[in-house]
Amino acid sequence: MSKNASRNTALNGICPYFTMFPLDFPYSILSRHASEGQWVIDPFCGRGTTNYASRLLGLPSIGIDSSGVAAALTEAKLANTSPQSILRAAQRILEEVGTPCHVPTGEFWEWAYHPDVLNVLCRLREGLLSDCNSDSRKALRAILMGALHGPLGKTKQSYFSNQCPRTYAPKPSYSVRFWKARDLNPNRVDVLRIITDRAIRYYAKEPKNAVGRIICGDSRSRTLYSRRKIRSPISWVITSPPYYGMNTYISDQWLRQWFVGGQSIVDYSNQEQMQHSSPEYFALQLKQVWQNVGSICVPDARLVIRFGGINERKNDSLPILKNSLKDSGWRIQTIKSAGTASKGYRQADHFTKAEAAREEHDIWATWKG
Ligand SMILES: C[S@@+](CC[C@H](N)C(=O)[O-])C[C@H]1O[C@@H](n2cnc3c(N)ncnc32)[C@H](O)[C@@H]1O
Repeated sequence: MSKNASRNTALNGICPYFTMFPLDFPYSILSRHASEGQWVIDPFCGRGTTNYASRLLGLPSIGIDSSGVAAALTEAKLANTSPQSILRAAQRILEEVGTPCHVPTGEFWEWAYHPDVLNVLCRLREGLLSDCNSDSRKALRAILMGALHGPLGKTKQSYFSNQCPRTYAPKPSYSVRFWKARDLNPNRVDVLRIITDRAIRYYAKEPKNAVGRIICGDSRSRTLYSRRKIRSPISWVITSPPYYGMNTYISDQWLRQWFVGGQSIVDYSNQEQMQHSSPEYFALQLKQVWQNVGSICVPDARLVIRFGGINERKNDSLPILKNSLKDSGWRIQTIKSAGTASKGYRQADHFTKAEAAREEHDIWATWKG
């Protein structure tokens, strides 16, 4: 395997997500230790950092996440396509879906998007919901999700929305108050121009031939790991589960969640997400995931977990993780400090505005199951 694989990493930033680990984390592990042809899996893939690192190194990979937003973003990280095909996919949908069946209504939507922009977005959404099988459509979907909300540019606007944060979807009543107080109206932006600019930025130089599969599902569920779904034995598991207490993956992404088929209101449901009711129950669920992935691994496969804690929950993170690995079939080899969160890179950042960040650890284990 080439250790000098291309490091054009623009695609990794196709859409903001939160609590991701830095690309260098999976990339440096795999570039130093993995061999050609070895399969990689991340059972909590988030925005697909592990899968993207695998792609850069020519390694085949699997990603699992129960958030439809995360799974869609990770699919785009493995898309083999070009800016021209992405633009053609968008134009084709707009030809096919002349009038959207459903356009969300209410004060938030009136202030968030110019009506013409919302109409185009709804047509694209409907086309993608009825068919998102090709790589061009998967890439288009992630591009649209990445441009769905964000700041108004000083010169050229590169998001579809009125002034918004880009990482989190804004809560409706707060945003409407904000826009009204400042008399900020949404602009009539050119959706196809924004798609084109972004398609060039993310897909013009992408290495071709990513191999892999992304599954939108609950990693705790044993049925996901059947040989029918995951055919090749896995050699590497590189992952970062939600930290104990971190349970806003769906509600904080509610606008993108809407775009991939969710409701047009904030979605507070946490179906298929890890439950955070007690450290013991949390560890038990993680253990289930470790056993599930182990069942599709080769002997002596390696598991690398980055784990930490959030200040809202005082529990030490390391005992939770060690507990989850006990009698799971994985034998712990090393535990190293990964330091504390540095701005913009670690998942604890988003919960540590007032207090110092908590220490994170990298735990290496070997499959002996
Ligand atoms: C810390 S993030 C992973 C971030 C990832 N390392 C990255 O770089 O983007 C944890 C992810 O676990 C997902 N998740 C939570 N519960 C899950 C479950 N039961 N099954 C699968 N994914 C789950 C969340 O949706 C979230 O995307």
